[in-house]
Amino acid sequence: MRTSKIERLGRQVSEIGLGCWQLGADWGNVDEDRSQAILQAAADSGVTFFDTADVYGDGRSERAIGDFLASRADADRFFVATKMGRRAQPHEAQAYTLDAFREWTDRSRENLGVDTLDLIQLHCPPTPVFFDPETYESLRVLVDEGRVRAWGVSVEKVDEALQALREPDVASIQIVVNLFRRKPLERVATEAARLGVGIIARVPLASGLLSGKYDESTTFAENDHRNYNRDGSAFDVGETFAGVPYDVGVRAAREVAALTPEGWTTAQMALRWLTQSGVSTAIPGARTVEQARGNAAVGDLPAIDDATMAQLARIYDDSIREHVHARW
Ligand SMILES: NC(=O)c1ccc[n+]([C@@H]2O[C@H](COP(=O)([O-])OP(=O)(O)OC[C@H]3O[C@@H](n4cnc5c(N)ncnc54)[C@H](OP(=O)(O)O)[C@@H]3O)[C@@H](O)[C@H]2O)c1
Repeated sequence: MRTSKIERLGRQVSEIGLGCWQLGADWGNVDEDRSQAILQAAADSGVTFFDTADVYGDGRSERAIGDFLASRADADRFFVATKMGRRAQPHEAQAYTLDAFREWTDRSRENLGVDTLDLIQLHCPPTPVFFDPETYESLRVLVDEGRVRAWGVSVEKVDEALQALREPDVASIQIVVNLFRRKPLERVATEAARLGVGIIARVPLASGLLSGKYDESTTFAENDHRNYNRDGSAFDVGETFAGVPYDVGVRAAREVAALTPEGWTTAQMALRWLTQSGVSTAIPGARTVEQARGNAAVGDLPAIDDATMAQLARIYDDSIREHVHARW
């Protein structure tokens, strides 16, 4: 497994991480045994970076990672990034106070079974939070108090990332980046690399579209956001299929599949594209042990050649750009 260094964390992380939203069993029904099996399979395949949030399964995802860490003699190898903010009801800018930060991080520390969180990320707060200096002062207090080692932000939009990058101690930016979401590479990744800030590429498979396995007749469970959030009625539509209209995405994913090298899966192609495009780690959300292993194997695949890279760029320009580029 290749690794990359996030300078502001002073840590090497695996190029392929594991997204752990699905371990909360909010959708897709991943039970506890399967969660542990996925975490162990990822770890044994070289994954050292795990991304979760306090709201995933209302803490179930964090507790699964806590149980996993407790089971490992080599727990120090692993880096856990969690998030806070979405517990606020209603979810509004005024909720992002120091007192709330303390309460939220204390709960995450307990769930994960650690004294100090490796990384806390703001969980896509309302945009004004990024422009309020008090936000960053409060995050620094968490570091001073030993609750967290470092802080970062998860953002929906490029402009929010650029605002956070003005802070001298932001350690990481988590943002949707994938073959169907390229603007963050153009606008954020280069600047982040210059500053030593990590880029955590979330929704790297466009919610599974980039596995190439869905077609026009595929259906998703009632409690799956790929069913109920296609129009963005529950949260930002950019988090579901990266905001690409489903049928458009299925057709474009077929073209990606046609370019996939022999012996690779289409999901592996999509992830390899990311890891050679300037992100620190990609965090696919594996729902099975096989998916976790297949994704981790990307950390040993050779680079995609220039001609194929150009064709992948053309698919984006011809089919996807008009739906997403101006929006996020
Ligand atoms: N606001 C935020 O900060 C935010 C929002 C969204 C996500 N995230 C983070 O990003 C992580 C990843 O995002 P995501 O899970 O939404 O999207 P994703 O990683 O793009 O897609 C996950 C889906 O891809 C499919 N998949 C995964 N590995 C596969 C493989 N090897 N072969 C075939 N299919 C595969 C699975 O679909 P099936 O279920 O069909 O098998 C899985 O449910 C989350 O777990 C979370 O940590 C953060």
